[in-house]
Amino acid sequence: MTTIDHADLHWDEHGQPLSSQFDDVYFSRASGLAESQHVFIQHNHLAERFAKLKDGDTFVIGETGFGTGLNFLSAWQCFLTHAPAAARLQFISVEKYPLQRNDLEQALALWPELSELREQLLHQYIAIHSGFQHMQLANGRISLTLLIGDALEMLQQLDGKVDAWFLDGFAPAKNPDMWNAQVFAQLARLAHSSTTLATFTSAGFVRRGLLAAGFAVERVAGFGHKREMLAGRFQPANTAVDTSKKTAPWFARPEQPQLAAEQRHAIVIGAGIAGCASAASLAARGWRVTLIEQHEHIAQEASGNAQGILYLKLSAHATALSRFILSGFGYTRRALEARSTQQPGNHSTATLDKSDWDICGILQLGFNHKEQKRLDALSTHFPESLLRAVDAQHASQLAGVALDHGGVFYPETGWVNPPALCQVLSQHPLITVKNSQQAISLTRDNEQWQVHAENTQIATAPVVVLCNAANVAQFSQTQHLPLSRVRGQTTQLPATAASQSIKTVVCANGYISPARHDTHTIGASFNFADNSQDATLAEHRSNLALLHELAPSFKLHLATDAIDVATLKGHAAFRCTSIDYLPLVGPVAQHDAFIQTYADLRKDARLPLTQPCPWYEGLYVNTAHGSRGLLSAPLAGELLAAWICAEPLPLPLELAQHCHPNRFAVRALMRNHS
Ligand SMILES: Cc1cc2nc3c(=O)[nH]c(=O)nc-3n(C[C@H](O)[C@H](O)[C@H](O)COP(=O)(O)OP(=O)(O)OC[C@H]3O[C@@H](n4cnc5c(N)ncnc54)[C@H](O)[C@@H]3O)c2cc1C
Ligand SMILES: C[S@@+](CC[C@H](N)C(=O)[O-])C[C@H]1O[C@@H](n2cnc3c(N)ncnc32)[C@H](O)[C@@H]1O
Repeated sequence: MTTIDHADLHWDEHGQPLSSQFDDVYFSRASGLAESQHVFIQHNHLAERFAKLKDGDTFVIGETGFGTGLNFLSAWQCFLTHAPAAARLQFISVEKYPLQRNDLEQALALWPELSELREQLLHQYIAIHSGFQHMQLANGRISLTLLIGDALEMLQQLDGKVDAWFLDGFAPAKNPDMWNAQVFAQLARLAHSSTTLATFTSAGFVRRGLLAAGFAVERVAGFGHKREMLAGRFQPANTAVDTSKKTAPWFARPEQPQLAAEQRHAIVIGAGIAGCASAASLAARGWRVTLIEQHEHIAQEASGNAQGILYLKLSAHATALSRFILSGFGYTRRALEARSTQQPGNHSTATLDKSDWDICGILQLGFNHKEQKRLDALSTHFPESLLRAVDAQHASQLAGVALDHGGVFYPETGWVNPPALCQVLSQHPLITVKNSQQAISLTRDNEQWQVHAENTQIATAPVVVLCNAANVAQFSQTQHLPLSRVRGQTTQLPATAASQSIKTVVCANGYISPARHDTHTIGASFNFADNSQDATLAEHRSNLALLHELAPSFKLHLATDAIDVATLKGHAAFRCTSIDYLPLVGPVAQHDAFIQTYADLRKDARLPLTQPCPWYEGLYVNTAHGSRGLLSAPLAGELLAAWICAEPLPLPLELAQHCHPNRFAVRALMRNHS
C-alpha cells in the first residue's frame, strides 16, 4: 500500500487539535506539554538516563502514534538539557495518519517554549510518504525515523532495540488496532532488559496485555484529571512472547568490537556520493573518518555530473526497489533542505548554494502506449503530493515548452549538482579527505585494517567502508561481489533566450533539466561496450537524439541544428550496478568460509542453519547505486552507519536484507549455483 491518508483534524475553541477519524484528542486539554513530560519523560526516567549517557552513546525512544510530534519535541528538549554533547537521540515513531505540515505547524504553535525545535522539525517535515521516513535534526545529533503505516505492520519490519517506549495511540477503547497482543508482542521483541515503558492509559486490558508480553507494569498517578496511568520495565524472563525467531545468520548483525569513543575511526574509500554520505553519517555519530580518493578532487566520476536528476523510478507493485527509492527520496530531499541553511550549532560552515539544487518538479512523459499505461498505474497507487497525472496541455504549461505527451508530474523533486552535495557532506571537522591516493589492497593486523597504495600504507583504522563503485571488486576480500559497470555520458547545452522558459526537468528515455549557470544538462547515454573515460561525440549525438525524442520543440528552444557537436562539453563516467539493481550496503563476509559454512543450503534451501557468519571484522561496503545514486546513496550512508554503530536500521529489515552484500552468495547456494 503506497498511498496514505492524512490526519483529518478539527480544532476546538482553545485551538487544540482533535482527530475526526478517532473522535479523540491528541493530548490533554489541560496542558499537552506538561502531560507529555509527566507521562512519557518522567515515567521513563529520561532526565536521569540521558545524564548517564557517555559521549558516542545513542539512546533510542520508540513511540506508537507520532501525531503532532509534541512528545518528540518534549523528549528532544529533555535530551538537550541532560545528555552530554556528544551523545545522540534516535526517535522512532509509528504513524498511520500523518498530519499535513500546516496542521503540524498549527498544533505545535501552542507551545512557544518549543518554537526553536518546532522550526527545525517543520523544516524537515517534507516528502513524508509511506514506509520508513528517516531524517536528521540538529546536525545529526537527533534522528527521527517515522514509520508511516499501520503500527503492527510497521513495527514488525523494525530491526533494533528500543530503550524507552512511549505508548500514545488514541484511547484504547477507540483504537483497538494500536492496543492489542500482537502490537505488545512487537514492543517486547524490540525491547531489552533495561527497556522502560510509559503510557497515559490505565485500561485493564492494556495492563494485562503488557504483562503477558513481559512488561512489569504498574498503575501510577496519572496527569491532570486522569487518576492513573501505566509505567513499567521489560523483564525478558517473564515474556510469553516467542522471541526465538532469529534473523538468518548471514543477515544477522556482526558482533561489534567495543571501541571507546576515541577509537572510533573509519576509512572510507572513494569520495563520490556514496563515500561522502557514508563519511557524513559516521562523522555525525562521532566517528573520525579518513576519506580516500584516487583523484585530485572528490566527485570526479559518476558523481561528477553538473545536474543529477532526483528521479523516482517507482513501480506500482511495491517492489523492494520502489520502496527503497521512496524512503531514499524522502531522505535526500530532507538532506538537501538541511544542508542548505546554516542550522543552530552547526559544526560545518558548508551549505549548498541556491544554484546547486532546485525543486523544480519533474515531468515524466508517457511517450508510448506501454509507458503511458505504466504511468497511469503509478498515478492510482501514489498520492497526488508525490505524483499526479497530467495531460499534454497541462504538461506543456508546467514545463514551459510545448509537449506532445502528457504523463506524470512529480512536484516535490528536481535536480542537484552532485559535486556540491559531496562537498558539503564531506566538510566536517571529523572528516579528513586524502586526495590523489589510490587504494590497491587491504590487510588486517592487530584488529586494524591497513589500506595500501602501490608502495605505501595510506591509512589504518578498525573499520573500512568500500565506496569505490565497481572498483570494490578489485580487493581480494570483495572480488566475489557481482558488480558491473555501464558507461554513461551527459551533455551540456548552452541556454538560449527561448530555453529560459524551461521550468521543470522533462524526461522520457532521455532528459533535459532547466538551466544552471546558463547551461542545460541533457542525457544520459547507456553504453555497455565502451570502456573509455572520455566524453565522445557519438554519445553527444545520441543525447541530442534523446532530447529530440522528448519533443520537437526542444530543437527550436535550444537551436540544436546550429550546434557544432565538436564544441559540446559533457561528462562521461561509469554507473556501478548489481544484478538485481539494488545497492550493496552492509557488512562483508569471508566468501570461501561463507560457502563452506552454509554449503548444506545446496541440499535444502530451507535448512534452519545457525552457524555464525564468518564476517571480515570491521569491513563494510556501500556501492552499486546504478543510475539513481542521488536518491539511494545518502540513505545508504545512514543504513551503513546503523550497521556499524549497532543502531536500529532506518529501513525495514526486509529491505536492508535486499541490499545486503551476502544476498547473492546465499541465493546462489540455495539455487545450488556455486
Ligand atoms: C552519465 C550518468 C548520469 C547519471 N545521472 C544520474 C541522475 O540524473 N540521477 C541520479 O540519481 N543518478 C545518476 N547517475 C548515477 C549516479 O551518478 C551514481 O549512482 C552515483 O554517482 C554513484 O556514486 P558512487 O559514490 O557510488 O560512485 P562514484 O561517484 O563513481 O564514486 C566512486 C569514487 O571512488 C573513487 N575510487 C575508485 N577506486 C578507487 C580506489 N581504488 N582508491 C581510491 N578511490 C577510488 C573514484 O575516483 C570515485 O570518486 C548517473 C550516472 C552517470 C554515469
Ligand atoms: C494521541 S495521538 C499521538 C499524539 C502524539 N504522540 C503527539 O505527541 O502529538 C495518536 C496517534 O496515533 C495514530 N494512530 C492511530 N492508529 C494507528 C495505527 N493503527 N497505526 C499507527 N498509528 C496510528 C493517530 O493517527 C495519531 O496520530
